[in-house]
Amino acid sequence: MNNDVERIICSEEQIAVAVKQLGARITEDYAGKRPVLLCVLKGASLFHADLIRAVNLPCEVDFITAKSYGMGAKSSGKLRILKEPDINICGRDLIIVEDILDTAVTLSALIHTLLESKPSSIKTAVFLDKNIGREKPVKADYKCFDAENEFLVGYGLDYAERYRNLPYVGVLKREIYE
Ligand code: IMP
Ligand code: MG
Repeated sequence: MNNDVERIICSEEQIAVAVKQLGARITEDYAGKRPVLLCVLKGASLFHADLIRAVNLPCEVDFITAKSYGMGAKSSGKLRILKEPDINICGRDLIIVEDILDTAVTLSALIHTLLESKPSSIKTAVFLDKNIGREKPVKADYKCFDAENEFLVGYGLDYAERYRNLPYVGVLKREIYE
């Protein structure tokens, strides 16, 4: 385990099982459809890469970059879209793939923006759901794990751009960010 991590909350093995199960659910729910799985960079990149391989459908993939966090551990509350999807999502079934749902400021703003392109449906798939600090009434349609109100790193999640490559999700030691 990385020295900066206090404890692991999702092991590599647990992640593999949960993502496969979620992929199977999406495959069932979208049978006969061709959804677009939109990865919210950079945090969801690992989850997205695993999830799309667990979805047995002729789906398409795309990427969007939206930033709500700066270099710290707290949300700035502001969202900037730095990269738009390439695929024309008008009339498409969109699944937004996000790493973690916390205040929901990011997802709520993203949904709002993406609705302007008139997709036929929008659903959200989040790897982790921190259900405590909601500021916007957004519910994850699909999720892998619930999480406590702790600062997590790994499996795409970063602190100041580090730790994304950890193959598990762990709680970052407070002394690292305080
Ligand atoms: P929200 O807008 O507060 O829901 O925050 C969502 C975004 O904040 C996520 O996409 C993450 O990039 C980031 N975030 C929230 N909680 C954590 C965490 O515990 N570790 C790392 N990033 C986090
Ligand atoms: Mg993110």
